[in-house]
Amino acid sequence: MLKFEKVSVSYGRAPVLFDIDLEVAQGEVVAILGSNGAGKSTTLRVASGAVSSRAGQVWFDGAEITNMPSHQIVARGMAHCPEGRRLFSGLTVEQNLHLGVRSKSARKVAPATLDDVYTVFPILKERRNQLAGSMSGGEQQMCAIGRALMAKPRLLLLDEPSLGLAPIIIQEVFEVIRQIRQTGVTVLIVEQNVSQTLDVVDRAYVIERGRVVLEGTAIEMKNDKNVQRAYLGA
Ligand SMILES: Nc1ncnc2c1ncn2[C@@H]1O[C@H](COP(=O)(O)OP(=O)(O)O)[C@@H](O)[C@H]1O
Ligand SMILES: [Mg+2]
Repeated sequence: MLKFEKVSVSYGRAPVLFDIDLEVAQGEVVAILGSNGAGKSTTLRVASGAVSSRAGQVWFDGAEITNMPSHQIVARGMAHCPEGRRLFSGLTVEQNLHLGVRSKSARKVAPATLDDVYTVFPILKERRNQLAGSMSGGEQQMCAIGRALMAKPRLLLLDEPSLGLAPIIIQEVFEVIRQIRQTGVTVLIVEQNVSQTLDVVDRAYVIERGRVVLEGTAIEMKNDKNVQRAYLGA
């Protein structure tokens, strides 16, 4: 469904991704792991068209989308829930959710999609008229994921959804990812919470200093000595 072929990205003159090869098949949940500054967010950004690539190709559903404008990529069925949530704090929960509707086809089914989002996140229904900025970090994260789902994506990119949340809320976030997967949405997730992530994903890539240094199934990752030492506190 998503394929990177030797994708390289620079910010200005600074190269940050080098020849990234990556694949996500339909129905899979795949993680990108790696330390701070490794290039995980940049990998999601280049997939969704938020940054452009200097070299290489990105494919989505068999079509090349390299350096396509992000609104066209959204319209093709990819949604990006960015790092740091980026909600409009002065708008209500429901207004923020509606901002996720970004294509004609999503607009047609928006009322039904909103019901689906409220089924996954009952708290958002309860709080639908509350200002997003007045909600807890966990609720804001749910709202950010809900907003991405309003685009009716077939592929959802999630950037550090558990960052800064309390352990009990982190569990809820991972529960939501399980639910999203059950609805048939393919997910590519960036996470620092490696142990819990490997419990919900099929496969993972480890990126270090802009390069893929390891890839494998979740089980292979859990059993990998380097992964255990670097990310699982073993
Ligand atoms: N907008 C930007 N402009 C310049 N450099 C950036 C920008 N965003 C990220 N970087 C740099 O690119 C590298 C990769 O960043 P990022 O993809 O955000 O890493 P990660 O998500 O793995 O923490 C880091 O060295 C970071 O400082
Ligand atoms: Mg990041």
